[in-house]
Amino acid sequence: MPNGFNIAVVGASGMVGGELLRLLENRRFPVREFYPFNSGKRPANVIFRGKKYPCVKPSLSALGRADIAFFVSTDEVAGKFAPRLAASGTWCIDDSSRFRLSAGVPLVIPEVNGAELESSGKLIAGPNCTLTGAAVALAGIHRRFGVTELRLATYQAVSGAGKAAMCQLESELKSYFKKGSVPELKGRVFPRPIAFNLFPQVGGFDAAGNSVEENKVEAELKKIWNDKRIKISSTAVRVPILRGHSLAVWFKTGKPCSLAALRSALLRTPGLKFSRKPENYPTPLEHGLRTEIVYAGRLRKARTGANEFQLWIVSDNLYKGAALNSVQIAERIARL
Ligand SMILES: NC(=O)c1ccc[n+]([C@@H]2O[C@H](COP(=O)([O-])OP(=O)(O)OC[C@H]3O[C@@H](n4cnc5c(N)ncnc54)[C@H](OP(=O)(O)O)[C@@H]3O)[C@@H](O)[C@H]2O)c1
Repeated sequence: MPNGFNIAVVGASGMVGGELLRLLENRRFPVREFYPFNSGKRPANVIFRGKKYPCVKPSLSALGRADIAFFVSTDEVAGKFAPRLAASGTWCIDDSSRFRLSAGVPLVIPEVNGAELESSGKLIAGPNCTLTGAAVALAGIHRRFGVTELRLATYQAVSGAGKAAMCQLESELKSYFKKGSVPELKGRVFPRPIAFNLFPQVGGFDAAGNSVEENKVEAELKKIWNDKRIKISSTAVRVPILRGHSLAVWFKTGKPCSLAALRSALLRTPGLKFSRKPENYPTPLEHGLRTEIVYAGRLRKARTGANEFQLWIVSDNLYKGAALNSVQIAERIARL
């Protein structure tokens, strides 16, 4: 497109939407016309390239003016608009979970499986923010040595649950410092208080006792790596930090490999910064705020058996876990 692309952002007033606008601007994505949308329940303006835009409720005809539409709102909204919009020629990049596991919809992290964009339809899904760190960090190791088993404990920031969740943490903290206790908040987002707390629940539970998030991690990672045989088990934990997801990962490789070979694979993995020194591990405060790559450290042999290793991973759930990944998909599309 010589004069740039008409861009729609559905969910422009949300947490991911705000970051998406910042990234489109900072990375100089060639935007011709810009159309922001929200639920329409309350007035909201967004600023893009110094200009104020009112958000409006989406409709198929309004969205149809876009060459590329980013869906950063809800599963329902993506389901309602994205397939019809894509069928009529607009690229739809969806950050919700609505189409991630749908056959024929690629689930894309550009530095891992971006080549899928070359032969795909116009509806593209971006993955869950939690598994993105593992999918990027271990991609090179999986390619060379074949990861056969993966176990994770995830430490997930409240911003992963959107702006209402951030408000819950802030309200609980304010109340604690004012009154000395964390109150029961009416209409709270999380199942438990989050200030000075953590809980092993991200989403509801299935009949086997796994949470929605734990099931997403398993199914989406298998799809992105195009490998159904890997055994994956995780425990997803919500922690009282604002931004940046951390993962404690244990993995087993099919081919024998040394720590030196793994280090070398990690140092050459696109989108990853790996620290060799154990004390240089990443943290969400230092490496999870508007960072464009995934960070990893503390690689070591696991004591449980041969070809078993452990790694600590941190990434920004709102950037690489959502908005940045979507913008990187759009950048690849722009080059097609
Ligand atoms: N947060 C993360 O780390 C993360 C990571 C990966 C993927 N995601 C996915 O990204 C999406 C957005 O997440 P978020 O954290 O940004 O949530 P959020 O802060 O709650 O923002 C939701 C956005 O969607 C808009 N919206 C809600 N209902 C709508 C409707 N019927 N029509 C049009 N717009 C509507 C909201 O508008 P109002 O302001 O009017 O309510 C708001 O702009 C979700 O699908 C989420 O699963 C989030």
